[in-house]
Amino acid sequence: MCGIVGYIGKKDAQEVLLEGLKRLEYRGYDSSGIALMKDKEDLSEKKQFFLKVIKAVGKVMCLEEKLSKEKLSSHIGIAHTRWATHGKPSEKNAHPHQDDGGYVAIVHNGIIENYKELKEKLEKRGHTFVSETDSEVIAQCIGDKMKTKSFEEAFFLTLKELRGAYAVVAVSPSDPEKILAARFSSPLVLGVGKEEYILASDVSALVEYTDKVVYIEDNEAVLLTPQGYSLRTFSNRAKGERKIETLEWSSDQAKKEGFAHYMLKEIFQQPHALTDTMRGRILLEEGMVRLGGLSSVEKKLRNITKIVLVGCGTARCASLVGEYMIEEYAGISVEVEYAHEFRYKKSLLDKKTAVIVLSQSGETADTLASVREAKRKGVLTLGIVNVVGSTIARETDAGIYNHAGPEIAVASTKAFTSQLIVLALLTVYLGRQRGMSLVMGKRILREIQTLPRKIQSILDDAKKIKKVAEKYSAFESMFFLGRKYNYPVALEGSIKLKEISYIHAEGLATGELKHGPIAMIDKNFPSFFLALNDSVYEKSVTGIEEVKARSGKTIALVTKGDKKVSKMVDDVLEIPKTLEMLTPILSVIPLQLFSYYIASKRNLDVDKPRNLAKSVTVE
Ligand code: F6R
Repeated sequence: MCGIVGYIGKKDAQEVLLEGLKRLEYRGYDSSGIALMKDKEDLSEKKQFFLKVIKAVGKVMCLEEKLSKEKLSSHIGIAHTRWATHGKPSEKNAHPHQDDGGYVAIVHNGIIENYKELKEKLEKRGHTFVSETDSEVIAQCIGDKMKTKSFEEAFFLTLKELRGAYAVVAVSPSDPEKILAARFSSPLVLGVGKEEYILASDVSALVEYTDKVVYIEDNEAVLLTPQGYSLRTFSNRAKGERKIETLEWSSDQAKKEGFAHYMLKEIFQQPHALTDTMRGRILLEEGMVRLGGLSSVEKKLRNITKIVLVGCGTARCASLVGEYMIEEYAGISVEVEYAHEFRYKKSLLDKKTAVIVLSQSGETADTLASVREAKRKGVLTLGIVNVVGSTIARETDAGIYNHAGPEIAVASTKAFTSQLIVLALLTVYLGRQRGMSLVMGKRILREIQTLPRKIQSILDDAKKIKKVAEKYSAFESMFFLGRKYNYPVALEGSIKLKEISYIHAEGLATGELKHGPIAMIDKNFPSFFLALNDSVYEKSVTGIEEVKARSGKTIALVTKGDKKVSKMVDDVLEIPKTLEMLTPILSVIPLQLFSYYIASKRNLDVDKPRNLAKSVTVE
């Protein structure tokens, strides 16, 4: 999730690109950069074109400050705001990337899965890489070919070598009045103005200039010159005309891609975000998982006999799911700790223990303190972190990134589900190091691959979830109840509801109800049951009966095809069937939407709930 802009036209390219970057900053904000083509009229007699590339670490305003000292008139350029995936935020890792021959500059959004192979090949051909990114190989690959071929030929030949996901935009001083771009699984849109064209990773960067757009399709490239644009196949054949669409979004709506709030957008992004989380990591035939970030500690992990999972809030709920997964399928004993408790506790840790911290931001003070405490005790520390280059990512011995893209809404949604995907992959990784069979490894991985499609089918039912949610929006208290794998989901459901709707909500293990909490139940105190068709189904049914007997209203989340629970409760929602260990990745989606729709019905500021901050960097 990075932001891309490209401009060709009569306006000052630097101004348009900077404005575009500011509007895309929500997509990534750890570094940014710009490449401007020097205008013809500024050229010396040699008639040589050159690219001026300027980069800065930090927000777009840091780049703006640098550029203010060095204004360069130009009408063609590309720019990028980065959300790091490979390599920490730094000027070297920031885009645009150039090849070592100075033929080309590119900006890239996505992940190049085969970058290591390509890099090795190019290094053998004498190229020197300067960044730690996967993106630089695109520039080096194009540049290598441009020694003997044109910019266009080199660009299209390079596309054939790339595996993964990308939106890539390139400019070359050898062919200075041209921008080439291509899309494969990462969004790219073309704004069509009056004698000007703006390419961007999403419409928010261009609504200021035009409302006419052409959506670049998957497996499609586009060639821009000041005179016009041409859609191309990956073999550089011209494609037919495409209808130019008219946007009906304001610029604020555009940032949210038409969704009313970032939270809703991030909920709906989950099929895509989770595909990114698993991209390049599943080795189906071997029933195994490739986790590059763990390669340095692979041997140590073989000898681990105990894992402590540490996190706060939503990250702790994910840890609890991880405990069930790892204990059941990898056979390693797991403890889950709140980071704020762990840091002050006398924990019994030894050389065979690994402390794994989970943190979306990678900056939570208590979680960071836990890493430092564990390291002080000489214990192996691993991080499951979304923000690349964050303090926790840097201080842990090794780790796995979520690759879920920036999460803007305070309420965590896609970070949670991507943490669960990482934990499921880690379970297979650890399990296959131990007793897990090839068949079981394959079975889990195959099912993980179906999850984005299954999540999409739940999202397609959002209207039904909204209807049920609105029925319950006036209550002042609610229980969320689940067992086993779905007990942590009940906890997460209650966090979601209270943090954005300010309704008192408690998450409980269903079996706990009769040990005290049931005293609360009456007609004004509804209960939301996770009653899926799993190994504890019958036990969940008992809980529902107990609440009904006390006149409590009941909502249940069931597995598609359920007959029994659906007849018992006041309202029912469904999810598709999956392996029991993976149900939380599906069951949490209706709960996220349920909370969201209640909060919006109550007219609350969903993205910025009162008293909360996105990242809790104080104790
Ligand atoms: C709830 C939420 C918080 C965070 C918690 C930890 O929606 O977002 O509970 O999960 O503050 O934050 P990270 O994961 O950044 O360490």
